[in-house]
Amino acid sequence: MIKEDIFKKIIAHSKEYGFIFPSSEIYDGLSAVYDYGQNGTELKNNIRRFWWEAMIRLNENIVGIDAAIFMHPRTWEASGHVSAFNDPLIDNKDSKKRYRADQLIEEFLQKTEDKIQKEVEKATGKFGAGFDENIFRTTNPRVIEQQNKYDEIRKRYLKALADDDLKEFYRIIVDTGIVCPISGSKNWTEIRKFNLMFSTQLGSVSEEANTIYLRPETAQGIFVNFLNVLKTGRMKIPFGIAQTGKAFRNEIVARQFVLRMREFEQMEMQFFIRPGTEMQWYEHWKEKRMKWHKAFGFGDEKFRFHDHDKLAHYANAASDIEFAFPIGFKEVEGIHSRTDFDLANHEKYSGKKIQYFDPDTNETYTPYVVETSIGLDRMFFAVLSNAYTEEKVEWEGSAKEERVVLKLPPALSPVQLAVLPLTRKDGLPQKAREIIDRLKYDFNCQYEEKDSIGRRYRRQDAIGTPFCITIDHQSLADDTVTIRYRDTMLQERISTDRLPEIMRDKVSMTELLRKL
Ligand code: GAP
Repeated sequence: MIKEDIFKKIIAHSKEYGFIFPSSEIYDGLSAVYDYGQNGTELKNNIRRFWWEAMIRLNENIVGIDAAIFMHPRTWEASGHVSAFNDPLIDNKDSKKRYRADQLIEEFLQKTEDKIQKEVEKATGKFGAGFDENIFRTTNPRVIEQQNKYDEIRKRYLKALADDDLKEFYRIIVDTGIVCPISGSKNWTEIRKFNLMFSTQLGSVSEEANTIYLRPETAQGIFVNFLNVLKTGRMKIPFGIAQTGKAFRNEIVARQFVLRMREFEQMEMQFFIRPGTEMQWYEHWKEKRMKWHKAFGFGDEKFRFHDHDKLAHYANAASDIEFAFPIGFKEVEGIHSRTDFDLANHEKYSGKKIQYFDPDTNETYTPYVVETSIGLDRMFFAVLSNAYTEEKVEWEGSAKEERVVLKLPPALSPVQLAVLPLTRKDGLPQKAREIIDRLKYDFNCQYEEKDSIGRRYRRQDAIGTPFCITIDHQSLADDTVTIRYRDTMLQERISTDRLPEIMRDKVSMTELLRKL
């Protein structure tokens, strides 16, 4: 199936089964804004919890806060967002579509790299065991030509980035012959800069002085609370402050569902360290965060690092963790070495001394920071698209049919146990509710009595419920039920006493945390 088709199917599935809805849909939606439905909210909460516990519970020296979305406007001058949080935008005059110039060039570079890789793969298949990739890369004329083109454009691009040279961006787009994917034309406008922060007014007077911004990253709420947490938590460097919460960006090119939203959620951790140790901690956090991603059990090949050519205005080193979405590898998390950029600027703009006295070295300094910053919505979609599976199965007794099942890690499933009375009479619903009343304190249970058992199984598969139990007349007599396992579809008769023991290991977040 074409990758875009799977992407669209997952989007349709997530709406049909209560994971994600377009925002204010009865008014035809709001572009790049989405609402989480009843199942999406549970799944999102579980992913957030896995992150929170991995940070706060498993690290003695990391604490969590919850700062306000509105912050003093000077915050964003100090952080550099007022002057430097811009995207270079270019319009195609024929399609009237707007693009980020840097992304057009990066896509061009990626395509050139893919072409080279394809040549290498073709040759590997053709020449077999004796194939020497190095010799091939340095002698094959087509590969050499593509490689030279790649190297030249990359060099020009990096320089243009460093010089913030929009005219050179434009020349690269013209020289490489990049066309608009919609119109196919090269009829481009000049490149302009556009600030991504949303602004609004505080109070009733609409004067410049009252303009405040919706935070474009949660990190600044941590920096402005550095001294508070340092003192009240009696923290000692190295230590971290974590938080999760909404961030807002007026994304101009927002076409990829929850991968690029205008209102989204971040899970960020700022780790405060002694200057000079930043590269060591940067590598440490890269490794730790990759381990967290791999703990989901999606397969290690689904994640990769992508070191940045283009550094954000605050960073001196940055790497993304990318996930293999149905539409290709995309960033889900960034690990950034932010130096003392933020704390030093907040000291300058606020006039408050923001320093740390290190009892180990007897020095006073402005701490450096290594940040881990993950988008919860992107991680949500990574989990959902990894889980989405179409299978040909023999439904309990019938001919082969397709089933759609979300093979979610059971600890993250919105519903952990579905309790299904075979009929709505003879005391079976009462028995089902009795079992739920016993288990609901430990597991998220759902009662379902409508439609045939087969249809109910299908609905539970579609939302990723790992266990279903059916209550029948025998259940009344001997307190046994039929348990059905989502992935294997196997069924067995068990005593209800065994349910907690069967489910606990599988659905417990602890098992995920133990992998870290
Ligand atoms: N404090 C650093 C920071 O905000 P970032 O790379 O701009 O860094 C971090 O953002 C993460 O936030 C990204 O890796 C991505 O997962 C998520 N993110 C950023 N912009 C987003 C958007 N418009 N929609 C959804 N997620 C977004």
